[in-house]
Amino acid sequence: MALLIIGSQRSAEFLAAIREIAPDMDVRVWPQQAGRIEDIGYALAWGPPPGALKTLPNLRLVVSVGAGVDHLMHDPELPSIPVVRYVDPDLTRRMVAYIALQVLFHQRRMSEFIELQHNRTWKYLREPAPAEVRVGLMGLGVMGEAAAVALRALGFQVRGWSRSRKHLEGVTCFAGEGELDAFLGDTDILACTLPLTPETRGILNRPLFRKLSRSGRHERLPGPVLINAGRGGLQVEADIIAALEAGELYAASLDVFETEPLPATSPLWAHPRVVVTPHNAAESTSRAIARYCVQQVRALERGEPLKNVVDRERGY
Ligand SMILES: NC(=O)c1ccc[n+]([C@@H]2O[C@H](COP(=O)([O-])OP(=O)(O)OC[C@H]3O[C@@H](n4cnc5c(N)ncnc54)[C@H](OP(=O)(O)O)[C@@H]3O)[C@@H](O)[C@H]2O)c1
Repeated sequence: MALLIIGSQRSAEFLAAIREIAPDMDVRVWPQQAGRIEDIGYALAWGPPPGALKTLPNLRLVVSVGAGVDHLMHDPELPSIPVVRYVDPDLTRRMVAYIALQVLFHQRRMSEFIELQHNRTWKYLREPAPAEVRVGLMGLGVMGEAAAVALRALGFQVRGWSRSRKHLEGVTCFAGEGELDAFLGDTDILACTLPLTPETRGILNRPLFRKLSRSGRHERLPGPVLINAGRGGLQVEADIIAALEAGELYAASLDVFETEPLPATSPLWAHPRVVVTPHNAAESTSRAIARYCVQQVRALERGEPLKNVVDRERGY
């Protein structure tokens, strides 16, 4: 059966990589080179046009180009076949590096030091020690758990929040909506790697920011910090700006946005306490994604269990 590459701007790179890794595989690109749609058994997909996958009568597997699958789940006609998401140690390490970098950046009050440097001002600012700072990881999945281990090694106090209860050494774990407020009240720097689902859309809003810890802020940080590397749909950008202006947030690092690319008119671009990156917290090479896709297709063909299958009920 043929593999169809659909939706991604990197289709040509995936095609070249798959042809090199699996020269015997029949690979096609949607829509020009799709050929006979009855031949297509597998799809490597990123944001396919809604309804397009449904037109493939013999489709048996969808491999997501990314770790998140919101780009597939919003298709009301997504066929009821296995969807596997991309999970890769290199991708995870890159996310861990992004989160550690942003946590350290704000713990060391770097946005203020950069401003002082611009003004040629030599000024001491009190920085909390890592052990004085509580990092709350929203999402304790593949990314969140790996970030927890790294942040602990850097000496931070680590908290985590997930849907189901976790037991991680040295991490205070909170679970479910009922424990969200307690988690937020015990967090100075909030780092989010939640998936975007109907439950999590817009969760990073002003009422939530107001619940972040303010006790002992003088010993810790000038105020709470938000880091979002999950999806832009998790955050309400007008609320982030308002919270920064009101001092309810001290700073933010945002890798994902409600609209991508972030429009030039967004006030986030120029805010002195906001770090903007272009959805590149964790990126993989086209070759690595192609290799993963081929492995999953081969596993299915051999009748072996698939890895990282998405729970369609939960939506991630
Ligand atoms: N910016 C980037 O470059 C980039 C790169 C890669 C991934 N991402 C984003 O990161 C996300 C997470 O990736 P991952 O591999 O860590 O996913 P994952 O392993 O599926 O982990 C998701 C975590 O979120 C928790 N969660 C989901 N819905 C929840 C809810 N309603 N309430 C509380 N907790 C909830 C899950 O709880 P349970 O453990 O109880 O299921 C789990 O701990 C992806 O979906 C993607 O959007 C972004």
